[in-house]
Amino acid sequence: MLDKINALKTEVEALQASSAEEVEALRLKYLSKKGAVSQLMADFRNVPADQKKAIGMAINELKTLATDKINALKEATELAEDGTDEIDLTRTASPMRLGTRHPLSIVRQEIVSIFGRLGYAVEQGPEIEDDWHVFSALNFAADHPARDMQDTFFIQRNPDVLLRTHTSSVQTRVMERSKPPIRILCPGRVYRNEAISARAHCFFHQVEGLYIDKGVSFADLKQSLLYFAREMFGPETKIRLRPSYFPFTEPSAEMDISCNLCGGKGCGFCKGTGWVEILGCGMVDPNVLDACGIDSKEYSGFAFGMGVERITNLKYRVNDLRLFSENDRRFLNEFTHAH
Ligand code: PHE
Repeated sequence: MLDKINALKTEVEALQASSAEEVEALRLKYLSKKGAVSQLMADFRNVPADQKKAIGMAINELKTLATDKINALKEATELAEDGTDEIDLTRTASPMRLGTRHPLSIVRQEIVSIFGRLGYAVEQGPEIEDDWHVFSALNFAADHPARDMQDTFFIQRNPDVLLRTHTSSVQTRVMERSKPPIRILCPGRVYRNEAISARAHCFFHQVEGLYIDKGVSFADLKQSLLYFAREMFGPETKIRLRPSYFPFTEPSAEMDISCNLCGGKGCGFCKGTGWVEILGCGMVDPNVLDACGIDSKEYSGFAFGMGVERITNLKYRVNDLRLFSENDRRFLNEFTHAH
């Protein structure tokens, strides 16, 4: 009888099953009331007394072995049927909802790409700045209102540490460390101490550009910006430059484009003028070049700066600045197909 039990043990150890039905069949064969183990129990009565102990132990061992083995097979087949222990690489993937790019990021990318075609490289710099890079090197007079707490967020006074109010600070840094020709684009976030409303925010985004080389003229500035305006707003777009003032450029100008809503005829959006303002620009003031270690007798250059929110409003008619930072998905999802 011991031989028979040992043979059954070997048999049980080798059991295999590939489905729940097969496992159930094995359970019936070995562990049910009429199964092999019960059969042995029944035969146990006839075992001579001196062998009862050894055979009893052997039967119990077989029973434990069979129970464990069949439970293990059961678990394995259930897992396989769940599909959790193997991945079907040929299965069609379930569709995944893609996120959308933020409208400001879409427009910034487009500005960068247009000037990229003119050879401008992107430069970045810190948002927390010192007075020199934001104001002093850029020819701001000591009493210029931008240096006032009303307009600028100061982190510390004397020496001043502040949040940059324009990305011209990046241009300062690049001029200080490189030799012309310089042709750079500085996209980034800037901060101004304004009460938040539909038309103003305490932070916004700019892209500023700088081109310095021998013999750069106002005509180059105008032509480069015309190219930008047409690429951004369509080939029919016209530009006009109005005299303006910035401490770091001389002469300075503000640039308008023909209203891209009415095509220049005059509408509510352009307040009947046919023109909308899009950026500030000018020839870099020689004082700025000299302050940054570039010889103003040898080199000249132009600079321009625009608000990304403003361009985005013109392109996509987003007229409340607050929408850009509220992360309302109903708003953001409208840009799924823009680019
Ligand atoms: N730095 C100016 C601003 O923040 C924009 C500008 C840049 C104007 C370069 C002229 C030249 O408003």
